[in-house]
Amino acid sequence: MMNLYTSRGASTYVLWNIGLIFIVSLGCIVVWNVVGTSSSINNGNGSDTLELFADQFPSLEETLWMAKLSKSAYEFRHEDKDFCKKYKPSDGTRCEWYDHNKRLGTQVLIVSNKVQKYIAVAFAGTDDIRTSLEDAHATQKPFGNNSTISLPEGIRVHSGFDNAVFLQGMWEQISSRIKRLVIAHPSYRIYSTGHSLGAANSLLTAAALSLQGHKVKSINFGCPQTGNKPWSEFFNRTSPTKDKLAIWRIVLGWDLVPRLPDFFYHAGHTIQLWKNSTNVTSVESYFEHYGNEELHYAGAPPGWNAKPHFIGPDDLTSHFMTKYIEHLEELNSVDSTWVHEFKKSDDPPPPPPIDYDDDVFNDDLRDDWYPKEA
Ligand SMILES: *[C@@H]1O[C@H](CO)[C@@H](O)[C@H](O)[C@H]1NC(C)=O
Ligand SMILES: *[C@@H]1O[C@H](CO)[C@@H](O)[C@H](O)[C@H]1NC(C)=O
Ligand SMILES: *[C@@H]1O[C@H](CO)[C@@H](O)[C@H](O)[C@H]1NC(C)=O
Ligand SMILES: *[C@@H]1O[C@H](CO)[C@@H](O)[C@H](O)[C@H]1NC(C)=O
Ligand SMILES: *[C@@H]1O[C@H](CO)[C@@H](O)[C@H](O)[C@H]1NC(C)=O
Ligand SMILES: *[C@@H]1O[C@H](CO)[C@@H](O)[C@H](O)[C@H]1NC(C)=O
Repeated sequence: MMNLYTSRGASTYVLWNIGLIFIVSLGCIVVWNVVGTSSSINNGNGSDTLELFADQFPSLEETLWMAKLSKSAYEFRHEDKDFCKKYKPSDGTRCEWYDHNKRLGTQVLIVSNKVQKYIAVAFAGTDDIRTSLEDAHATQKPFGNNSTISLPEGIRVHSGFDNAVFLQGMWEQISSRIKRLVIAHPSYRIYSTGHSLGAANSLLTAAALSLQGHKVKSINFGCPQTGNKPWSEFFNRTSPTKDKLAIWRIVLGWDLVPRLPDFFYHAGHTIQLWKNSTNVTSVESYFEHYGNEELHYAGAPPGWNAKPHFIGPDDLTSHFMTKYIEHLEELNSVDSTWVHEFKKSDDPPPPPPIDYDDDVFNDDLRDDWYPKEA
């Protein structure tokens, strides 16, 4: 059973649960084969015209790389300063820089991978999740660092996320390190990633890097809503960033965080992972989250933004990074279900994706918050 969100207190338990993320142990590194990405995307009227970088779907494989990297960003937190030098996972990832700025609450990891040929910047969720997401009146500010990194007047982003990336020299560090890595490895792709508030940081960072001329793909997990409507609309088909910036926000089931904070908007495309009560998985993608009528793309379905009325200490399990990884690995190993096309608005209307009400078996509010802790 699930009720609409009625009080701001609902996210009170977020902090509780985020703590558990840190307890997870390192999963084993799985080597998986390259699966092709779809290079042309049907625009809904039969012609393949959407070939912008921003609209080229990430493969499941690269999504899994980024998921694992987002998890690693949390693990660095408990290690000593030299951990970056010692960090040598078998997949060819090399730690280039790690920083935990305790005043900003920002944890950032920059890596390169010589096997898959990429450079990636990954953020762990900041310490400040309650203040950032609970307050419906969370403040907004202009994006960037007030000089070279900025967007047109009227575009505003969540102050907490912007500060985490742009204050105290953080951005200058990230920017100069990426610049050096790009010079050293000019053929490598650039990714940004992160989980939770780290996902928001990764999205802002990707936007900033693209404004500096880099071609960046942000694949992130459980990203909250990051800015105002003009911010959300800026990353559209005529945006100057369209051939440089691709934003893919992965959302697992009814993860609460992507529905927060209220009155903010998403930027970029959504990839939604569902599983119904008979454990059948599906993956959908919502063009720029809200859809585009002209191009016949559907947005997130009505009710997508619904929030549970009550969340107990165990009920944010679908926000865990480990849950995202479990689900993606299941897709990868069991049925290779992945998405290569945006959902179209003229598709026959599907049954609501809200197959959370299994109370016919067991009247248990907690299991409505997919996926249930086994
Ligand atoms: C298909 O969509 C493209 C892009 O929106 C448009 O330019 C074109 O005219 C459309 N073609 C038809 C047959 O509707
Ligand atoms: C930009 O300027 C505003 C107003 O002076 C200030 O509050 C903010 O911290 C500045 N941002 C950065 C990244 O320096
Ligand atoms: C903004 O960032 C750029 C580097 O990307 C830097 O050159 C510039 O000095 C920064 N501006 C401020 C006000 O910090
Ligand atoms: C699309 O983005 C551009 C800037 O990137 C903006 O000027 C324009 O208003 C946006 N269009 C819509 C329909 O939101
Ligand atoms: C679905 O998966 C969960 C957890 O893996 C399991 O407990 C449950 O029995 C499964 N349900 C069905 C109908 O197979
Ligand atoms: C789960 O999804 C599958 C595939 O769409 C469907 O056949 C099945 O009936 C669904 N199960 C429930 C309980 O809705």
